[in-house]
Amino acid sequence: MTSLDEFLEQLNIYVRARYPLLYIVTWEEERAEQLLRRAAADRSKAIYVWTQTEGFHGKASSKGYSAVEALNHVLSSAEKAIFVLKDFHPFMKEDVVIRRLRDIVADLKRSYKTLVLLSPILEVPPELEKDITVLDLPLPDEADLRTCLREFLETVKGRIDVRHDPDLEEKVVKASLGFTLSQAENVFARAIIADRAFSMDDLHLILAEKKQIVRKSGFLEFYDLGEDFKQVGGLDNLKLWLENRSHAFTDRARVYGLPEPKGLLLLGVQGCGKSLTAKAIASLWGLPLLRFDVGTVFGSYIGQTEANMRRALKMAEALSPAVLWLDEIEKAFAGSTGNSSADSGVSARVFGAFLTWLQEKKKPVFVVATANNVKSLPPELLRKGRFDEIFFVDLPNQAEREGILEIHLKKRNRDPGEFPLAELAREAEGFSGAELEEAIVSSMYSAFPEGREINGEDIARALKETVPLSVLLREDIQALRSWASQRARSASGKR
Ligand SMILES: Nc1ncnc2c1ncn2[C@@H]1O[C@H](COP(=O)(O)OP(=O)(O)OP(=O)(O)O)[C@@H](O)[C@H]1O
Ligand SMILES: [Mg+2]
Repeated sequence: MTSLDEFLEQLNIYVRARYPLLYIVTWEEERAEQLLRRAAADRSKAIYVWTQTEGFHGKASSKGYSAVEALNHVLSSAEKAIFVLKDFHPFMKEDVVIRRLRDIVADLKRSYKTLVLLSPILEVPPELEKDITVLDLPLPDEADLRTCLREFLETVKGRIDVRHDPDLEEKVVKASLGFTLSQAENVFARAIIADRAFSMDDLHLILAEKKQIVRKSGFLEFYDLGEDFKQVGGLDNLKLWLENRSHAFTDRARVYGLPEPKGLLLLGVQGCGKSLTAKAIASLWGLPLLRFDVGTVFGSYIGQTEANMRRALKMAEALSPAVLWLDEIEKAFAGSTGNSSADSGVSARVFGAFLTWLQEKKKPVFVVATANNVKSLPPELLRKGRFDEIFFVDLPNQAEREGILEIHLKKRNRDPGEFPLAELAREAEGFSGAELEEAIVSSMYSAFPEGREINGEDIARALKETVPLSVLLREDIQALRSWASQRARSASGKR
């Protein structure tokens, strides 16, 4: 089932269940209208479209064009019909319009009429929040984009060199997944006309454009790859696991019969390198890193949160193969356990949708989730089949602390050979990676004003002056450790 079929089915359900007011947010007005026409035909209903400039098209064309008149017309109509109001949001600031819409809601629940608001902007007055159901239009699929590309190439054929290159076509179509049709058209025009040819260069431009669009979507954030595993100390088991899967997203791996890795849950103590690892995985595998801030999907209208969640996941799939990073996942889905009446079960529903996606996704999106508290983690997340593996990232041991000190000294252009690393690491029992780094930085701050180089004693002093989190949170860490010893793999090598 394509996402378009899903959309139509959803639309059908809402119409059948007599949801009075649907709000479709999209820039693709024409496509949305076509789909609405299909939905109307499926249910043998008439469909009438209103705009401020033209009033209602079709045979029900009303005399007046005003917003209130349009609503009056809907109210008085006895037909089984879908009424589509385009760009209606500016009018929903007027009291009479809001009042009329509320009258309509009451009336429509008892009729076979559906009112659809179609607009690129979502604006709903608080009085109507409970009555409006928000739907998102799915993005075009490969077939839609291929048609769009071919049509565009057809139009420029005489003027520009467009030899048919199936391989390039395939790549461009894949790279365009995630665009709306009009965005795709614009990028094709810009890329292809700029260099007066349909070439490999266009592909790079398309990918660059896509980054921009992902950024604007507001749910996902493209991370530029900086960190790699050279900057991660210790965690040898985890590194080995990841290295073994370096080529897991290649066709070669598929031919060999390997499944694509699904994802990892990194559980552990604060400041020990979970976020760092997430970033390093993308570098290691050469995949784009998308950070997904789950908090951004929550919206206040019925269906909006679910629609946003779907949109974010669709976007990630469109950008696959990619690493999707959910930091501090226990916070993201905090509302999904316990008293869910607080948000009428929305958190629980989006969490459920996320879990289903995690288990059933067909696209190569590798999910890296991090958490440092198991108590607030919904148990369903830990069930088999969600993640390939759960790794526990503990405080670094002696050898790991040496490695981390070395990394951070090097990072600041100091020669680690000049420092008594083993001794310092012993002093730093119970310190996290972040705290080791912090000790180096603060020793630099104290040496700098004196106009001299740092030495081992500076670092030793900085370590002594710090009370590591592991002391303050001793019980919590113990509890986490004993929980993890039964259920997670140790990220570090030998203890
Ligand atoms: N194993 C490590 N090797 C090298 N540096 C580390 C390591 N662990 C932590 N650091 C340093 O500490 C910083 C913070 O670590 P990071 O953000 O990865 O911790 P975290 O496990 O995600 O913590 P939190 O649970 O608080 O989010 C890193 O950017 C890095 O500079
Ligand atoms: Mg973190």
